[in-house]
Amino acid sequence: MGYDSDLSFNYFGPTKIVFGAGVAKDVEIEMGAFGGTKAVVVTDKGVLGAGLVDPVCKALGNKCVGVFSDIPQDTGVEVVDAGAEFARKNGADTVISVGGGSAIDTAKGMCILLTEGGSLRDFNGIQLLSRLQTPHIVIPTTAGTGSEVTTAAVIMDKEMGQKRLLVENYNAPRLAVLDPKMTEKLPKLLTASTGMDAMTHAVEALHSLQHEPVTDGLALHAIRLLFKYLPVCVENGSDLHARGQVQIAATLAGWAFGNAMVGNVHAMAHSIGAVAHVPHGIANGILLADCMEFNVEEAQEGYAMMAEAIGVREKGMDDLEAAKAAIEAMRDFTRNKISHPQKLSEFGVKQADIEKAADMSLSDGAIVNNPRLVMDASEILGIFEKVL
Ligand SMILES: [Fe+2]
Repeated sequence: MGYDSDLSFNYFGPTKIVFGAGVAKDVEIEMGAFGGTKAVVVTDKGVLGAGLVDPVCKALGNKCVGVFSDIPQDTGVEVVDAGAEFARKNGADTVISVGGGSAIDTAKGMCILLTEGGSLRDFNGIQLLSRLQTPHIVIPTTAGTGSEVTTAAVIMDKEMGQKRLLVENYNAPRLAVLDPKMTEKLPKLLTASTGMDAMTHAVEALHSLQHEPVTDGLALHAIRLLFKYLPVCVENGSDLHARGQVQIAATLAGWAFGNAMVGNVHAMAHSIGAVAHVPHGIANGILLADCMEFNVEEAQEGYAMMAEAIGVREKGMDDLEAAKAAIEAMRDFTRNKISHPQKLSEFGVKQADIEKAADMSLSDGAIVNNPRLVMDASEILGIFEKVL
């Protein structure tokens, strides 16, 4: 892939990874490596009910000083404040999140408050911190968000009527425990849609204006693994090898987009999520191929590399032809390989919703890194209409 001769970039990815089926039971030893002696486990009711917290608490023994599970689907400032208060009262020096994006983001906010004090309302901005925060260990129970290795958290502030974005390098998770057994029971649709969140992170990192050689390498391998193993996971959820490969892909994609950022797919998914509550992974999975088509001229080198990675670049194809082959492969993948929903109307979305979401997308921070300059909302609406 071509890079400008004056290429310069920063890459940041300090999180340690421990991978393997059953490794969640080693969490107490890993916590000791940071000097942690008392952990609060942060999770949600669904994960708790599925019994996924039990092996973690058992492994921690009396070093688990409490379980905070009062977490809604989208976490908020009050939830983080309450979680930090709970952890403080119980004397925790470590936070362990077991769950998906909402539990992980809650724990990220709690780590800041445990170190700095106060309410999350006091932290409105990015890169405000100047010292390392309370250690955070992440044990993901989905394979998609990549939040286990990113420095960002999204937290709803009802008073302000908007979502806050926290980005703090000093608050990156210290450790991500990738245990395929934690994702074994994930139902088919959730497996497919969270997998498509990871796929979108990888493709958007590849086409982002901020892509660079490290993120390209991570993104391409994530895409390769997802094309090969996500269909296996959807077909047979208890295939632990495939589950593990998809977990690894989600983490690689997390490192990639955590540095390169994302583009119009995420801008549109955030907006349609806010307007019509379409789940994030589903929205990404429905929008990805058509957004790639929108970007194909500008992103053809990256997509051509992707075509090579997934084996659809034929001899004699130029970059644009290979890029188009990658887009067709993506359509075939979502429709035929993982049975992912294809239309937003399947989730109750109406014409008025996409008109509102198209306007909102223009002011979403993700759009600034899209490879093709988006001139006005009608271009975004055109993409939405194709998948309505
Ligand atoms: Fe995402």
